[in-house]
Amino acid sequence: MKATASERCQLKGWESRLMSADEAAELIQDGMIVGMSGFTRAGEAKEVPLALARRARHDPLKISLMTGASLGNDIDRHLTEAGVLARRMPFQVDKTLRGAINRGEVMFIDQHLSETVEQLRNKQLGHIDVAIIEASAITADGGIVPTASVGNSASFAILADKVIIELNLATPAALIGLHDIYIPQMRPARQPIPVVDASTRIGVDHIPIDPAKIAAIVLTEGQDSPSTVGIPNEDTQRIARHLIGFFEHEVEVGRLPPSLMPLQAGIGTMSNAVLNGLMEGPFEDLTMYSEVLQDSTFNLLDSGKMTFASGSSITLSEECGQRIWPHLADYRDRIVLRPQEMSNHPGIVRRLGIIAINTALEADIYGNVNSTHVNATRMMNGIGGSGDFARNGHLSIFITKSTAKNGALSSFVPFVSHVDHCEHDVDILVSEHGLADLRGLAPRERADIIIEHCADPLYRPALRAYFSEACQRGGHTPHCLEKALSWHLAAEQEGSMLGLTEPSCAGHQPHPCGVRDDATA
Ligand code: COA
Repeated sequence: MKATASERCQLKGWESRLMSADEAAELIQDGMIVGMSGFTRAGEAKEVPLALARRARHDPLKISLMTGASLGNDIDRHLTEAGVLARRMPFQVDKTLRGAINRGEVMFIDQHLSETVEQLRNKQLGHIDVAIIEASAITADGGIVPTASVGNSASFAILADKVIIELNLATPAALIGLHDIYIPQMRPARQPIPVVDASTRIGVDHIPIDPAKIAAIVLTEGQDSPSTVGIPNEDTQRIARHLIGFFEHEVEVGRLPPSLMPLQAGIGTMSNAVLNGLMEGPFEDLTMYSEVLQDSTFNLLDSGKMTFASGSSITLSEECGQRIWPHLADYRDRIVLRPQEMSNHPGIVRRLGIIAINTALEADIYGNVNSTHVNATRMMNGIGGSGDFARNGHLSIFITKSTAKNGALSSFVPFVSHVDHCEHDVDILVSEHGLADLRGLAPRERADIIIEHCADPLYRPALRAYFSEACQRGGHTPHCLEKALSWHLAAEQEGSMLGLTEPSCAGHQPHPCGVRDDATA
């Protein structure tokens, strides 16, 4: 049931700030820096950005837009098509915007998600002119209660000159009290951030701002876009099984407790398959300290396998949303939503000993991972929070299918064409063929295991041939520099790496360490 504005807004005299989205959009001028709520399709402002896109079609203007992460409701597409975006950060997943970024029309700043507001606070990124924040309620002293995400909303609202609030009357009342808003002190007087457990609450349940800054209140009943989690297929299930088997083994040999360590997982079909797989096996009292609480999080909570989940947004498929949103109150003592600066905080990630599970576009034979660029040049989505977790986690795991584009591209290559996560930050690689445990291994040892356990068998001979030739030339991390990116060159020129699998290209020398041809994990 929808709430009324007076039920959700306790601020005295709020009616005088009520305006339409089109009127509120007039507060945004050409050249401004705008900070907007929204994290992984959850909790974005829904009315004002679309009004801005409408206005820009007859009154052109350009802004720099910062959000928490990706937006739903095609907002990035509408803003791109209207030519509104001059600069965009720190993450996106929109096809139209991606095209504009790759044509050099929009300057995209691809950032670790924990870092944006720290840089804003330190005046390294300019000054936020206007913040547009979706709220489920406004407190008597003007505090903003966020909706399904916190993202960067708290710092945007606190740092902005003016704040436009989109009060969403369709959001469940159970959101009120769910958030934990904590802003670290300015340096040099910063205090330790006292999160010692996924469930620790250290802040308040609303974003405290000076109410005089609230320049507009716009009412909305817009819905978040559902996540588009694909149905697990044989490959994603095999990846999940390899990883679950690994966790079981780690528990068995006493390196992990049955509760594992707090889990972080990127969103998507593969991650959901892995998390759902935890329902089987000897795991109990699992916790999550992640960015996005997704379908699998709620499945684990419902099954009793997970006791608590901390994130920065709730992003659910349509089907799961219909099950969870009406009963959100039932989960209130088992979930919390934090600013992404806290959900992804490197210090907390290190302290809690998080198991980080993220997705690679490609990995190389030494364990460097590319999560963002196709053929070194074209941006896919961005690094998101994967680097926050991968560098600082207790275990840094990357999953990927061994090939892309129906086998035409190998996801395991001699040298990645762009490095997001360097070999020092990658502990475990998993494909549908197996798992490579890279802990404690030198580069030459890593190459053996990655090729034999993770690469597609079709591409293994060519990878072995490359590695063998490189080893003959020597080096700690052996390479044939003139061939290191030849796989990407083939992909660029021929649209395929399959030519490399031909015997004349691949060669059949056994490589120096004599690894078995048929080895899988
Ligand atoms: N070379 C070129 N393209 C590749 C590729 C490769 N080695 N591997 C995958 N792709 C393409 C796929 O073909 C697919 O293209 P399509 O959309 O045209 O079909 C696309 O990349 C997505 O791949 P998919 O296999 O469907 O995986 P995904 O949806 O899980 O996305 C990433 C994989 C890496 C793009 C995605 O996880 C991502 O953006 N990660 C970085 C951010 C992150 O880790 N976030 C989590 C913490 S916030």
